[in-house]
Amino acid sequence: MNLIDGKKIATEIKQEIAAEVAGIIKSGGKQPHLAAILVGHDGGSETYVAFKIKDCEEVGFKSSLIRYEDDVTEEELLAKVHELNEDNDLDGFIVQLPLPKYISEEKIIEAINPKKDVDGFHPINVGRMVIGMPSFVSATPFGIVELLKRYKIETSGKNCVVLGRSNIVGRPMSVLMSQKAVNATVTVAHSRTANLKEVCANADILIVAMGFPGFIKGDMVKEGAVVIDVGTTRVKSDLTKSGWKLKGDVLFEEVAEKCSYITPVPGGVGPMTRVSLLLNTLLSAKKEIYN
Ligand code: GUN
Repeated sequence: MNLIDGKKIATEIKQEIAAEVAGIIKSGGKQPHLAAILVGHDGGSETYVAFKIKDCEEVGFKSSLIRYEDDVTEEELLAKVHELNEDNDLDGFIVQLPLPKYISEEKIIEAINPKKDVDGFHPINVGRMVIGMPSFVSATPFGIVELLKRYKIETSGKNCVVLGRSNIVGRPMSVLMSQKAVNATVTVAHSRTANLKEVCANADILIVAMGFPGFIKGDMVKEGAVVIDVGTTRVKSDLTKSGWKLKGDVLFEEVAEKCSYITPVPGGVGPMTRVSLLLNTLLSAKKEIYN
């Protein structure tokens, strides 16, 4: 079994980005700039956004954080999105999800200029991705494809099962895996899939994004499979200082011994998701997706 070290690869990519940013600035270019809008004080969202700001600092990007209390109106938020759309210094921005229930996430996402949608959530970017046009791609699937590439894992002609069909992970993941650059044969499985155990056990590459800790057991995985665990559920733990630990969707102790490659949680997919947002922002700054 080989452990896929997402943390190490993400650190390498960050160094590559930092070197590129230094080059841009040295040659008189503009410092890449990412902004994040954060509404309310959800613990998870606070942590994710703090990481995004820290990541920007590490690679030499400018970052801006725009905060609202969770009584902000949809109109106020839409007005801010329109303002950021027009801000020529900004290469990209994200609106951290989830938003309070009374605000339509769809409406907010659709209001973002696709050219600045470095989350890759806008229907224009999703559509462009599906038909193979240049697009911003959602960070987690983007990071997973990059991990497979950097570990030189064979994907062509392989049976890939993606477990989960969310707009952010499962759905775009399934599309990327079937594209010509990757060439896998893809099955999208989900909570209503019949014979889920057999479907999973047929996968050469199993990508699990369900959000059920420890869901994938040893008997659901083929000998020699590549297993990518997207799950990051916070569970109570006596073993950590914070009293919490992250648990993946894969029962690592049973599954790891059967795999050729597996991502750990933490330290697998998570760091790649973070670095992918930086990559999208750099692509935007370099006008490589849209001119
Ligand atoms: N909430 C959970 N993941 C994400 C993400 O990748 N982007 C945004 N904007 N919100 C999220």
